[in-house]
Amino acid sequence: METKIYSIEDLQEAAQAIKAGKLVAFPTETVYGLGADATNEQAVKQVYLAKGRPSDNPLIVHVASLAMVEQYAAEIPAKARALMKEFWPGSLTIILKIKPNTLSKAVTGGLDTVAFRFPANQATLDLIKQAGVPLVGPSANTSGKPSPTTANHVFHDLNGKIAGILDDGPTRVGVESTVLDLSTAQPVILRPGAVTKAAIERVIGSIELNHHKVKQDEIPKAPGMKYKHYAPNAQVYIVDPGSDWDRVATWIKAQPGTVGVMATAAVFATTDFPLNAEHFSLGTDVVSAAHLLFDGLRAFDQQPEIKQIVVQGFANDGLGAAYMNRLNKSAGGTHWGQAD
Ligand code: TXA
Ligand code: MG
Repeated sequence: METKIYSIEDLQEAAQAIKAGKLVAFPTETVYGLGADATNEQAVKQVYLAKGRPSDNPLIVHVASLAMVEQYAAEIPAKARALMKEFWPGSLTIILKIKPNTLSKAVTGGLDTVAFRFPANQATLDLIKQAGVPLVGPSANTSGKPSPTTANHVFHDLNGKIAGILDDGPTRVGVESTVLDLSTAQPVILRPGAVTKAAIERVIGSIELNHHKVKQDEIPKAPGMKYKHYAPNAQVYIVDPGSDWDRVATWIKAQPGTVGVMATAAVFATTDFPLNAEHFSLGTDVVSAAHLLFDGLRAFDQQPEIKQIVVQGFANDGLGAAYMNRLNKSAGGTHWGQAD
């Protein structure tokens, strides 16, 4: 199968492919998603195959109207309505109880809930409207790898496995949506994203962050908890905020091969890195760093001689909570300085 790159002008063709049960990757403001008709069980099953994703890890359902949520949710509680009004379209995914016998098990992984997202990307909202059905949309990467923030990243992972990719340039945010479980009495953030805990609490009051670890034989309640995530082939080290970058540079010099360095321009301007350091700038702050994190990890993954990558950490709040959550997973929790 040849994977087509659709431009925004080809939207109709992309919508036809979705209607025909084919897979089309789509842009969102967070990362690219792997789209299929959420009401077509065969198409949804193909999504798991193309990604190599375990079938008990449920998919997000992308909608372009409140009516689409009403069609598949058992009910929309007042808190959910308030959050939708405030943050949709945008990077907040909301989990609600499913209306029985609507979406297939392939979508929900057998749970009695479903995750809804109204992405802030006009082309994708148009695609959903033209297809006339909601789209499942896991991040359009091979399972375990960093999520794709460009059409090129998607092409790299899924060329030949999907019908097409709707290209709308690089995504703005760069890390996936906040996942909020509103299916139980106490709302819980299952995955931090650009819509922060504080922002949600301003609308609905106090919520929890999930720290529950999922066992291998359990259905994951929290996204991605039991699977390897965002992992390039090289070992990733987190450089904690406040670390002395001169010491990092000295450590790099003593390493046998090339070491990838992902840090802000300010760090590169003030640190004398040795010749075996390969630079990738994360820009100016945590916003640009979140935008570029997966791009940098993927860029270094293309260079087999890089066996180690050090990545700048940020304070664990606001967007930093989302950034550090992804960085922690890609590093398997390893911090520089504890390394040897
Ligand atoms: O920003 C995003 O959310 C992107 C774009 C494409 O929309 N999508 C995305 O999908 O990140 P995915 O499948 O890579 O991550 C969604 C996470 C999964 O880890 C899954 O476990 C969780 O959401 N999830 C989905 N439905 C759920 C449910 N009913 N209950 C609990 N977790 C759920
Ligand atoms: Mg993903």
